[in-house]
Amino acid sequence: MCGIVGYIGPKNTLPILLEGLSRMEYRGYDSAGVALISNGTLLVRKRAGKVADLAKKIQGDGQLPECHVGMGHTRWATHGEPNDVNAHPHTDCKNEIAVIHNGIIENYLAIKTKLQREGHHFSSETDTEAVAHLIEDLYKQTHDLFEAVQLALQEVTGTYGLVVVSTHEPDKIIAARMGSPLILGVGDGENIVAADASAIIQHTRQVVYLEDGEVAEITREGFRTSTIHGAKVKDKRVHEITFELSQIERGGYDHFMMKEINEQPETIRNAMRGRLLVEQGNIKLGGLEHVKDKIFNAKRIILVGCGTSWHAGLVGEYMLEHIAKVPTEVEYASEFRYRNPIITKDDVVFLLSQSGETADTLAALREAKSKGATVLGIVNVVGSTIARESQGGVYIHAGPEIGVASTKAFTSQVTVLAQIAVMAARAKGMTETDAKVLTKELDSLPQKVARVLQDSHLLKKLAQEFKDARNFLYLGRGANFPVALEGALKLKEISYIHAEGYPAAEMKHGPIALIDENMPVVCIVPKDAIYEKVISNVQEVRARRGRIIAIANEDDTEIAKMTEFVVRVPRTYGFFGPIINVIPLQLLSYYIAVARGTNVDQPRNLAKSVTVE
Ligand code: AGP
Ligand code: GLU
Repeated sequence: MCGIVGYIGPKNTLPILLEGLSRMEYRGYDSAGVALISNGTLLVRKRAGKVADLAKKIQGDGQLPECHVGMGHTRWATHGEPNDVNAHPHTDCKNEIAVIHNGIIENYLAIKTKLQREGHHFSSETDTEAVAHLIEDLYKQTHDLFEAVQLALQEVTGTYGLVVVSTHEPDKIIAARMGSPLILGVGDGENIVAADASAIIQHTRQVVYLEDGEVAEITREGFRTSTIHGAKVKDKRVHEITFELSQIERGGYDHFMMKEINEQPETIRNAMRGRLLVEQGNIKLGGLEHVKDKIFNAKRIILVGCGTSWHAGLVGEYMLEHIAKVPTEVEYASEFRYRNPIITKDDVVFLLSQSGETADTLAALREAKSKGATVLGIVNVVGSTIARESQGGVYIHAGPEIGVASTKAFTSQVTVLAQIAVMAARAKGMTETDAKVLTKELDSLPQKVARVLQDSHLLKKLAQEFKDARNFLYLGRGANFPVALEGALKLKEISYIHAEGYPAAEMKHGPIALIDENMPVVCIVPKDAIYEKVISNVQEVRARRGRIIAIANEDDTEIAKMTEFVVRVPRTYGFFGPIINVIPLQLLSYYIAVARGTNVDQPRNLAKSVTVE
């Protein structure tokens, strides 16, 4: 789930590990630990809390000797509460083998029970510890660490990014992956393995991605890999990371989330760069070129994702059906697989994921693929698992998103979906003149978003006004209904205020009972085709004395007469509205969270990349 970093080389390892772990803090975690090998001894230090707490503990315990092999972990608990003992690394009975692990060992209980019966002593409640003891057991047979890890993993079911060091073979690190990412940074006389490029980039830009089912042996000089079952792995190409470290730092803002909200004019532009042919009224998406016909002739398109990515999918459904006239469905990735969906080879399934590592979304991808559908990714993280397992797709190019609450990824995902819709519409007969209206409008979006960002004075004021509210309601219709859901999700995630998003007209079938003079109700009311309809719903809230915050267009002269507050946004083509209308909602939740003093970038109980089912 969270951070993994391992180093082997001439430098003092501990500071490298601690820095790598801090770089990955944004992923969300509850405890941290390191293991180092020093003169044939395994030194393990770990504790609940932040990486800084771990660093303090290490200092307090007395200086550790300089070491040249080691690994560090940040944990997001799945088995056993987040405490010092359950923090990783976990070791075998003799403290000779240490393991760090992201993911879940599904059959750990059976392994643990068997090994306990044979005399192994366990100290934690984690699933991970079973792997350390299993390797210990198998090492007795193999006297070869690489092989012992391979054999152990043959017995294991579940997901893992796993790193192992041992005093038996102190000059190497073993790493393995199944469903949880691991990247190998290839240096000169040193190598580093990590769950994430942010921990590698200050050492090297040359990386190798480990695949599912692959085990690597990493030494100072190099690495070799094979599958868990010992087969050779072909094509271990070295890739070059092109993004800058400064891109993953806060860039002058108090929080990553605010930085990322403010990046949106740029990131929306990046999602269209080289793709939007404004004057031709067309779109060119290289990653879909080879499957174009499949998309244009698809019986239906299915959009699959989780959380914010699912909301982007919902907006996509409106755009694809209205603009491109393709029947479209949207599914929660977590529900998709277990519904045993009826999928045919004529279906096109788009997997939406910022991280490209979300376990539920990846499982949906594999399910759809196994049933013969064309599977395509709309992903941010280049080289991520979903990107690699897709048959094609579009990178959203939003740059690293570090705030756990997704913001810029949403607008970029919607921008990509809008382009797919226009591209499909053209192929299905939309005239150049009609399409040009849309491509011009897409082209104007970054600048319109920038305008919303320039004036957030009212939103700050609203945050002060409503920071102590216990509930919020968000209402929107049509393509702005998903925006209501997204606004409510943002508020819940970072301010811990209960919030619900609802289709505005559906409110009268239940949630209207909640409305009284204390209930803030955010109504998204752009001047689009269904403006009058939403206004009726606004009146219903007003009649119950709800406190209305309207998100309305700059040229709407009526709305202020009906609502207590009006946040103005530029007008756009109705189905592109979500890209603009979501911005004030992101800002409102940000300012409320700041006013409440919560941890904006790493909200409680959440992780950036949810790689467990
Ligand atoms: C968004 O603010 C959330 N933190 C979460 O819902 C997220 O969108 C979801 O986990 C999906 O992540 P992905 O886009 O990386 O697949
Ligand atoms: N399942 C392991 C645990 O609970 C690993 C969690 C993680 O991915 O950080 O310890």
